[in-house]
Amino acid sequence: MLADVQARRIALVGRTASEDDPAVRPWLERIRQSGAEVEVFAADVADVAAMRAVVRDVVARFGEIHGVLHCAGVPGGGLFEQRSTADVRRVLAPKVRGALVLDEVLAGQPLDFVLHFSSQAGLAGLYGSADYAAANAFLDAHARARMPRDGRTVSVAWPAWAEVGMAVGSPVAGRPVAGAEWQVTRTFEPGRDWELDEHRVKGRRVLPATAVLELICTAAARRGLWPAGTAAEVRELTFVTPIVGDDPVEVRVTFTPSAGRHDVRVHARHPADGPEWTEHARGSIGPGRAAVPAAVDVAALAATLDEAPPVQLSSWIDFGPRWQVVGGVRHRDGRWLAELGLPEEFHAELADHPLHPALIDVATSVSDRAGRDYLPFCYRRFEWFAPLTARIAVHVTRNAAVDRRYEMDFDILDAADGRVLATVTGFVLREVQPSEFVETPPSAPTDRAALSPADGVQALRDLLTLPLPPYVLVTLPDNRALPVRDLWLRDTADDRPDPVAPAADPRPVARPVERRPAGTPDGAEEIELMVAEMCAQTLGVGRFGVGDDFFGHGGDSLSAVQLVSRINLRWGVEISAVTVFDRSTPELLAAEVLALREPAPADPGVAT
Ligand SMILES: NC(=O)c1ccc[n+]([C@@H]2O[C@H](COP(=O)([O-])OP(=O)(O)OC[C@H]3O[C@@H](n4cnc5c(N)ncnc54)[C@H](OP(=O)(O)O)[C@@H]3O)[C@@H](O)[C@H]2O)c1
Repeated sequence: MLADVQARRIALVGRTASEDDPAVRPWLERIRQSGAEVEVFAADVADVAAMRAVVRDVVARFGEIHGVLHCAGVPGGGLFEQRSTADVRRVLAPKVRGALVLDEVLAGQPLDFVLHFSSQAGLAGLYGSADYAAANAFLDAHARARMPRDGRTVSVAWPAWAEVGMAVGSPVAGRPVAGAEWQVTRTFEPGRDWELDEHRVKGRRVLPATAVLELICTAAARRGLWPAGTAAEVRELTFVTPIVGDDPVEVRVTFTPSAGRHDVRVHARHPADGPEWTEHARGSIGPGRAAVPAAVDVAALAATLDEAPPVQLSSWIDFGPRWQVVGGVRHRDGRWLAELGLPEEFHAELADHPLHPALIDVATSVSDRAGRDYLPFCYRRFEWFAPLTARIAVHVTRNAAVDRRYEMDFDILDAADGRVLATVTGFVLREVQPSEFVETPPSAPTDRAALSPADGVQALRDLLTLPLPPYVLVTLPDNRALPVRDLWLRDTADDRPDPVAPAADPRPVARPVERRPAGTPDGAEEIELMVAEMCAQTLGVGRFGVGDDFFGHGGDSLSAVQLVSRINLRWGVEISAVTVFDRSTPELLAAEVLALREPAPADPGVAT
């Protein structure tokens, strides 16, 4: 990277740095082959005496020092209350003390730049890494304080880097933290796994969304994410694209602790096609209610409903024998009761499949959707109380059947004794055309939350050639795989960005971020414009009007999920991706943001 950015005389400093390190030597050779000179110095950047000696030696060897990349850092990691003072100091030292030491020992050198390698963690925080986030926040503040005086101190908040550096080896690229996150991976193989073989959409094997739901719940249960005896609760599990499995497919679930629960991300890849992971679903899981709802009198419930025709499974999906489970159905006024019985030869599977994907998949089909085709989009809330039994009763209530969206609630009961095994509040389906599904090309890889080395070099080159503010945030918009030209470089000047600037600017964009008094809320019009900009960026289109329809511009469920992530991040709200189906313009979404941000009215009955 250093040679790539045209540095000709390079001094590398690290505590354990050595010319003889076999891991380092090939890199030194590459740098030398590029025509640059390089020398290695061993010192702790937080040790002022050692660094003074390094500066003296470097000057003796190369002459004056013109630029510094302050990269020293160690990752944090672990719950803050369990970190000792020494642990925290170890993380703070290379950045906090290191920055101050550099100032001291480099005084008098004709520096063009001192570029501190900070992290987005300094801006956004990082779960399980408060010390690391603080160390980076210090660098940011330090550069802001120094830049007006010396005109050369810059703090660069990088996203995670792919392939190299401290984030590699972390379970999820994009997070320079180890230990707080964990993953499970399962490979599904055609010809071996019935979840694929018995669920074919126009001939293609597609993993049912319920297999993903089961993988999440069982992995979390094994990990003991909730106290025994309480329910598991999955929230806002949103499916962005189906997982096709005509070849073996690895499905990976990443659990990230978040506010007493775990955020969940589901990725898949086909090893035959390459190493890239594609995101397929996201949501969260955590403990649910402690008390299991009272058992339901299934016979009494049936008596309130009328006999109805059998459940129609989707006509464009070929189902295998495990899906042949439907017994009698009863119905009245948007409510259904269906009995589903797993064929006897598959009963033994319930030991390994406590949320049998075929049973639940059929349960989600009990309703009046015949004639229209839908794909699962979101479980707003799924509560799991007990393993499914071979004979279940499903009680469904339809909530909505509107444009593009069908929504229902359902309870899964033991057919024999009415025990509540699971409940779903808000199962949302999105309408699709079968042709749309089978012709969909493989979705673009989205698990590139990390900056590739090539993009990193390009960004560094830009940073060294552009006039810089004291603080630069380098982002890949919404973790999407974008060429470096789309890197979003921000500074903190006072002028504001054009809120509806075309998204496809061919050059790196230096966009000023507004400086506003802390706590100043955005107004309605401002939010509308910013949501419009987010729509344009998400869809990669030019201008996007505040009254324009997101789906009219080519939006789909994947982009809807990405859009709400941006909105939620920006305004600290929790809008469901489902909302975009009903409120598909920036105007309507902005109203939603405002409504959610409205402070709760004071309770007049409470004396203060
Ligand atoms: N990798 C990422 O995804 C990422 C993302 C955002 C920001 N960053 C930041 O970029 C910088 C480089 O990250 P990286 O991923 O390349 O990390 P890395 O591979 O772990 O390298 C860190 C380097 O810092 C040196 N170091 C640590 N403490 C030191 C000290 N007290 N004095 C001198 N050298 C010290 C280490 O060498 P010794 O152990 O031999 O001292 C090592 O060479 C870090 O500041 C990091 O916070 C990285």
